[in-house]
Amino acid sequence: MYLVTGAAGQLGRGVINHLLTAYKVPAAKIIAATRDPGKLADLSAKGIEVRAADFNDEAGLVKAFAGAKRVLIISTDSFEPGLRQKQHDNAVKAAEKAGVEHVLYTSMPKPDTSAVLFAPDHLSTEKALAASGLKGWTALRHNWYAENLFYSLPHALKSGTHYSAAAQGKTPYIARDDLARAAAAALASDKGGKNTYTLTGAKEYTVDEIAGLVSKATGKALNVVHVPVEGLVQGMVGAGMPEGMARLFASFDENIAKGGLAGVTGDYKALTGQEPASFENWLAKNASAFVEKALAA
Ligand SMILES: NC(=O)c1ccc[n+]([C@@H]2O[C@H](COP(=O)([O-])OP(=O)(O)OC[C@H]3O[C@@H](n4cnc5c(N)ncnc54)[C@H](OP(=O)(O)O)[C@@H]3O)[C@@H](O)[C@H]2O)c1
Repeated sequence: MYLVTGAAGQLGRGVINHLLTAYKVPAAKIIAATRDPGKLADLSAKGIEVRAADFNDEAGLVKAFAGAKRVLIISTDSFEPGLRQKQHDNAVKAAEKAGVEHVLYTSMPKPDTSAVLFAPDHLSTEKALAASGLKGWTALRHNWYAENLFYSLPHALKSGTHYSAAAQGKTPYIARDDLARAAAAALASDKGGKNTYTLTGAKEYTVDEIAGLVSKATGKALNVVHVPVEGLVQGMVGAGMPEGMARLFASFDENIAKGGLAGVTGDYKALTGQEPASFENWLAKNASAFVEKALAA
């Protein structure tokens, strides 16, 4: 049995879709775990078992993981200090107690040296896996979703100016659905042992290159203004963002500037046998969404 946590999230739904369609895993061999099973009635109707699982409840997780041989732990979305580490710890311990053979976990690139403020959450989960008694585990280090640009660029497209502290650092963006496919491939592969994959897009880009491509695809001018990290923080705070959130977002740029996301790998192809979608193709499909979001910003 293959179990996917966070199955009601966008990545989780994508993983289950690829398990069924790309890797032909029978619905009867898939368990979808989520905090709110009511959201997954469509998967139940397909014959997938849906179980309640909340990473805040270790005992509940042990029950939810019972009978699963391979479990994909999708990192949670909590930014509350300390909570995410505790949640992921609960999930790793529960997998061990439930007798799961292999755990896969969605991590981030270079978590040991990253400047991203939540990188310690991922590093500690990877360490928890390494220290566990699990027979095997796989860290799927996800590079930045191309979809993250839907958060960072619409306001900039509206004003025509993008303030960035990423300097000349490069990011090999990858579409969320490609990461879902790679996770499904790794889950269904039945590969044991201790593995780390760093999943990236096919090419890496500076912020100026991204702005040029987005500008061309949307027909909207986008000028990048390079600022220091602290200047970016103060600009966001001045625009009304709480300081903690501003520091988190600025840490993404700081990390890019120091090369924390840089480096294209062949790990996506190693897992799926195919190339990830090119950023330009992803952008062509999403240009109108950028324009709509910019108008609504
Ligand atoms: N690499 C990147 O650029 C990037 C970008 C965004 C997010 N992420 C990470 O990737 C994860 C999946 O991304 P997404 O796009 O699918 O985000 P999403 O649609 O916002 O989903 C959030 C996920 O967090 C799960 N979750 C939250 N609290 C939980 C809890 N207490 N117990 C168990 N699960 C919990 C949700 O599961 P249920 O609702 O099913 O319970 C859901 O799978 C995110 O949570 C985040 O850690 C990475």
